Amino acid sequence: MRRTGFHRRQSGGGGSGFKGMIVKLSVAAVVLLICTLSLFFSSTGTSSNLQSNYRSEIRLEELWSNAGSGSWRPSSAPRTHWAPPPTESNGYLRVRCNGGLNQQRSAISNAVLAARIMNATLVLPELDANSFWHDDSGFHGIYDVEHFIKTLRYDVKIVESIPENQKNGKKKKIKPFQLRPPRDAPVSWYTTDALKKMKEHGAIYLTPFSHRLAEEIDNPEYQRLRCRVNYHALRFKPHIVKLSQSIVEKLREQGPFMSIHLRFEMDMLSFAGCFDIFTPEEQKILKKYRKENFAPKRLVYNERRAIGKCPLTPQEVGLILRALGFDNSTRIYLAAGELFGGDRFMKPFRSLFPRLENHSSVENSEELAENTRGLAGSAVDYMVCLLSDIFMPTYDGPSNFANNLLGHRLYYGFRTTIRPDRKSLAPIFIDRENGQTAGFEEAVRKVMLKTNFGEPHKRVSPESFYTNSWPECFCQISAQNPADKCPPNDILNIMNDELQKTETDTNSTIS
Ligand SMILES: *[C@@H]1O[C@H](CO)[C@@H](O)[C@H](O)[C@H]1NC(C)=O
Ligand SMILES: *[C@@H]1O[C@H](CO)[C@@H](O)[C@H](O)[C@H]1NC(C)=O
Ligand SMILES: *[C@@H]1O[C@H](CO)[C@@H](O)[C@H](O)[C@H]1NC(C)=O
Ligand SMILES: *[C@@H]1O[C@H](CO)[C@@H](O)[C@H](O)[C@H]1NC(C)=O
Repeated sequence: MRRTGFHRRQSGGGGSGFKGMIVKLSVAAVVLLICTLSLFFSSTGTSSNLQSNYRSEIRLEELWSNAGSGSWRPSSAPRTHWAPPPTESNGYLRVRCNGGLNQQRSAISNAVLAARIMNATLVLPELDANSFWHDDSGFHGIYDVEHFIKTLRYDVKIVESIPENQKNGKKKKIKPFQLRPPRDAPVSWYTTDALKKMKEHGAIYLTPFSHRLAEEIDNPEYQRLRCRVNYHALRFKPHIVKLSQSIVEKLREQGPFMSIHLRFEMDMLSFAGCFDIFTPEEQKILKKYRKENFAPKRLVYNERRAIGKCPLTPQEVGLILRALGFDNSTRIYLAAGELFGGDRFMKPFRSLFPRLENHSSVENSEELAENTRGLAGSAVDYMVCLLSDIFMPTYDGPSNFANNLLGHRLYYGFRTTIRPDRKSLAPIFIDRENGQTAGFEEAVRKVMLKTNFGEPHKRVSPESFYTNSWPECFCQISAQNPADKCPPNDILNIMNDELQKTETDTNSTIS
């Protein structure tokens, strides 16, 4: 069952300031809702259970609206007792988040959780200058810092920098002890090794910090904290939101649109080792890039695609969409870097879908050029893809743009995603290239029917928590399983009271 619910959803209750407000069907409202949706918002769900069966046919009008919620709604507020951050911190936690915008996003969520686990004070995470874009705008350049700190006040204490210690009238700087956490470190590493060093030195510095905390943690409250960070506390700066909103408004003037993350850039292709389709010259470039940037690995190049390791080519994207029934009037926003191999790869796609847009074709202004360099450019594409009616990634590897968006769209109302199963599609494409065109579209549809279009679904390894936070960050009003029940509407008041209580306690111990 699908519904058009998100645009028309009533959002109310929870002391959220949204009480009784009916969100109108307009882009501005949707943007506003997504950017300010209260952590504690509640809404009425429809009553049906989680879909366990895949659909029997694909209807385009269904894809253009949101997926069925199965009576689930997003919710990241705590459902059991959640104490405010301790008044006595165990020390300061500093982290350096490496990677691009999205790798950093999950690293920031992990850092907040690590600080909570350690009863530490978090220093505003440092974001690596993006090596590809030579960008150094940092946390302040991309995210709303004040909102970040305020939203997480019930969870962790966050400071912008480690304050100087005042001892006997002398200023003394705490020097954080530098540690390299194991990849996907378990919670126990933080409460033993890391905590020991923190207590010894007063502060630790974890670097690099991406994928340094296990994703699967058997504690739904911890997982919900990750969602509070990722989907509520991390808000892009107003100028990024405004620019994205303006792009979306222009696109919507002509009706619904689809966004595609076309991951067909040099770094991606050389990482995946998909060389076969390129000229010897191009292959040389890709192989050189691979040698310089990635760990050596024996790859059988002509097998990479057959085992689903290659990103879809632009033409394959076009053929899949055609098989699903989208025609040449479909408007598509492309989020992509510089495509490798030039126009000969785009041509077949453009002939199937001529109405292609990107951020410079929609908003060709000085302001845009200034605001879309580096991380901010990724952020604008991220927002437009988040708000689009349909989203389709062409590659989903660990913690990249597409993965985070899939998770974000799921959280904000089960927004439709088209998620091709590359491994199952590969033999169909290979047959077609060998001249076997009969039944091609039917075969593609058959594979696509077995995929998920954005409905709530079980997370199966290796799917990441950041791609699919169901069920931890979703709840049901009348749930069969008590753990799935939505938190009380006055949860915000309860947490406020508790926070104030600790403040009063502290004040009375001081005085
Ligand atoms: C953090 O504080 C809580 C509540 O005071 C306590 O139960 C927990 O053991 C502490 N954890 C660490 C690692 O200090
Ligand atoms: C779309 O396809 C139809 C035929 O199916 C054709 O008449 C029309 O010119 C095409 N439109 C564009 C913009 O290519
Ligand atoms: C955006 O689209 C325009 C017009 O189609 C094209 O010239 C330009 O190269 C595209 N820009 C990017 C970054 O893809
Ligand atoms: C505790 O003291 C701080 C600083 O003096 C003050 O801002 C805060 O309002 C006080 N809290 C309560 C609950 O009295």
